[in-house]
Amino acid sequence: MGSGFVFSCEDRNVKMDIYMAEHNAESFAEVLKDFLEKHDLTHLTEGGLIVDMGCGEGTFLAKLREYFPQARFLGIDSYGGVIESAAKEHPEITFQRGNIMDTKLPPSSVSIATSTAIIDYANGTMSRTLSLPDYANEMHRILIPGGTYYPFDLKFDEKCAKPFLESGFKQYEGLANYPVFQKQQNLEERMEPNER
Ligand SMILES: C[S@@+](CC[C@H](N)C(=O)[O-])C[C@H]1O[C@@H](n2cnc3c(N)ncnc32)[C@H](O)[C@@H]1O
Repeated sequence: MGSGFVFSCEDRNVKMDIYMAEHNAESFAEVLKDFLEKHDLTHLTEGGLIVDMGCGEGTFLAKLREYFPQARFLGIDSYGGVIESAAKEHPEITFQRGNIMDTKLPPSSVSIATSTAIIDYANGTMSRTLSLPDYANEMHRILIPGGTYYPFDLKFDEKCAKPFLESGFKQYEGLANYPVFQKQQNLEERMEPNER
């Protein structure tokens, strides 16, 4: 684990009580907001693109929009039915039917990627349709250097983290035990001192 983002135990224990009470779109949005504020990362939401991977009916995106009114938002889901109703329910947000392992987004175009219960899918019922290594590579491709990925999953363990670390992300400890992955700022940071 890196050191830049790690919260003190004291911080985390206080926040755990608040966030663990209810796992829902509002509590996830609050975790994200507090994390960005704590680590001076709110610039990522100022005009930056926030994408919810496997957005379902857009509940999380709608909540994020309340918290980050200056950001741009996109939801991607492979199920056309939910994309249609999300677009009707939230006309102010852009939704796209597609595969989150192959988003078709330009490289380095996303400031923040989020997901809720996607990794649970990858390890369970959706293991045939969601490959974590392919997904991790795609997240790394589309994020801007310094951009961050927040998977909100209750069962995120070392096995889940491995493909993200292998694709070049650095992992940090977020609030309420949710991990945070950051794309490296530049190539130099990824090189060993003797390679520079
Ligand atoms: C738990 S739901 C997400 C809920 C959503 N974040 C919200 O705010 O309501 C997971 C979603 O991931 C989508 N999904 C799973 N695998 C996917 C894939 N490979 N590409 C796109 N969407 C996928 C499912 O269709 C489902 O709608």
